[in-house]
Amino acid sequence: MIDVTMIVRGDAPIGTIAPRLYGHFAEHLGRCCYDGLWVGTERRDIPQRNGFRLDVLEALRALPVPLLRWPGGCYADHYHWRDGIGPADERPRRLGMSCGLQVLDDNSLGTHEFLWLCAQLGAEPYLAGNVGSGTPQELCDWVEYCNSAVPTTLARMRAANGHPEPFGVRLWGVGNENWGCGGNYDAPTYAREYVRYATMLRHVDPSAELVICGHTDEWNAELLATVGRHINLIDHLSIHHYWTHGGPETEFSEQEYYALLAEAASTEAFVERTAAIIADATGGQHRIGIALDEWGVWHPEARLWGPGDVPRREPLTYEQAGTLRDALAAAVALEGFHRQCQQLTLANLAQVVNVLHAPVMTDGARMWLTPTYHALRLHRPHLGATALPVQLEHGATLPDGQPAVSATASRTGEGLAVTLINRHISEEARVLVRCGDAPESAAGQILTSASPRDTNSADEPDRVAPAELAVAPDGPGAWRVELPPHSLATIVLRAA
Ligand code: AHR
Repeated sequence: MIDVTMIVRGDAPIGTIAPRLYGHFAEHLGRCCYDGLWVGTERRDIPQRNGFRLDVLEALRALPVPLLRWPGGCYADHYHWRDGIGPADERPRRLGMSCGLQVLDDNSLGTHEFLWLCAQLGAEPYLAGNVGSGTPQELCDWVEYCNSAVPTTLARMRAANGHPEPFGVRLWGVGNENWGCGGNYDAPTYAREYVRYATMLRHVDPSAELVICGHTDEWNAELLATVGRHINLIDHLSIHHYWTHGGPETEFSEQEYYALLAEAASTEAFVERTAAIIADATGGQHRIGIALDEWGVWHPEARLWGPGDVPRREPLTYEQAGTLRDALAAAVALEGFHRQCQQLTLANLAQVVNVLHAPVMTDGARMWLTPTYHALRLHRPHLGATALPVQLEHGATLPDGQPAVSATASRTGEGLAVTLINRHISEEARVLVRCGDAPESAAGQILTSASPRDTNSADEPDRVAPAELAVAPDGPGAWRVELPPHSLATIVLRAA
C-alpha cells in the first residue's frame, strides 16, 4: 500500500484551464469522418441527423467537445474547400489522401456540414488550410466564404448554400506538418510561405487567429527566426506529440506500461521547451500560444513507421484498441496541460472517432466508448476552472523515478476538483487530500479495471467504466480516498 498526502495550493493559482485544451481532431482518414461521424442522409440502418450519427453526436456532446479541428492532418494539404460546398450530388469525387491511404472521397462532408456539427456539439471550429497543394488566394477565399459580413460573391454563395450569417471561424491553420506530408518544406522556406499566407489572410479577416506549423525544437527556432520582424503574424505555434514507445496496444509488458506513461509525461517538457523557444524569439514582446493540435498514443499495430517490433494490422486502418493504460496516459498528459495552461493555448486529441487515440468507436450500427472517453469525462469539472498546483508530501516512485500517485486540481466559484492517478501497475494507494478550505460535501468517481490491458468493445462496451468512489472526511479541509492500482479518480469538493 502506498501512502500519499496531496496538498492543493489554493494560494498559488496557475491560470485558467481554457476549454480549448480539451479539443478534438476529425480528419478524413480511415473511418473517422466518413462512417465514424458522417453516414450520410440516405442511411436507414443507423439513426442520423443531417447525415451525422446520432449516437456519436450524443456521446460527443456529453464529453464535451469544446474545440474541433478539421479536415486534417495530412488530408488538409490536399483539400480544396470548394469541392465540399453546394448540392451534394454535384460535388466532385476526389482521391482522399492522408498518411498513405487513398480512398474515394465524395466530399459529402464539407464546410457547411462540419460547421453544423460544431454548432450541434457546442464546439469551436478550427479549420486547417491547404498550403501543400493550395494557394494563398484559395485559403483567403475560404476565410472570406466563412466569415465575411460584406455581401461579396463568396458571402452570397454561402447564403445561397444555406448560411446567410457569417460562420465566424476564428482559428485557421496555415498548413499541417509542412516539414513532411504538407510539402516537405525546410523551415526557412515554409516560414516565408507562412508570412505570405498570413499577410493576405489578415487582410481578409483581421480577427482570424493564425496557426503556424511547428515541429522539432530546431525547426521551431529556425522558423521563428526566419519569420523575424513579421512575428506578430503568428498567434499560435502548432506542435504534434504522438507516444509510440509503449509496445503492443494490448499485450504490453510492465516495462512497456511504464514507458508509455513516461512518454505521455514528456509531452509537458516538449511544451516547456517550445515555450522557451518562443520566449527567445519574441523577447516577450508578442504572445504566441502553443497549439498542441495533435496528441495521443499511436500504437505500432496502427502505423507504418516508428519503434515497436509488432506486426502491423492489415490492412492499415489507423484503428487501435484503446486500453485503460491509454486512458491513464491521457490523464498524465492532461496534468501537464493544466500546469502549462499559460503557454498552451489549445490541444486536440488525435482523433475523435475510430482513428488512433479515439474516445468513441463504431462498428456498423454499434458504438462504444473507450476508457479514454471516460478519463476525459472525469476531467469535465476542470474545463474553464483555475488550475492550482498540487504538492506531493511523500509517496512511492515508479521505476523511472516519477511519483506513483500524481494529481491535478482546479477551482471554480462552486468548489474544488482534484483528479488523482495511481500510476502504479500493482500497488494500491491511500491518499490524503488537504485543500485548506473546509468544503462540506465531497463526491468521487473512479475509473479502473482488473488489468490496465482491459479495453471496451462492441461486445463488451462497459468492461472499463467509471464507478462511484468513497471520499471520507479526515479533519478540517482533508479527505481520504483509496485508489486501486492503475486507476484514475476525480473528487469534487463543494462548499455546501
Ligand atoms: O493523425 C494522423 C496523422 O498524423 C495526421 O494526418 C498528420 O498530421 C500526423 O502525421
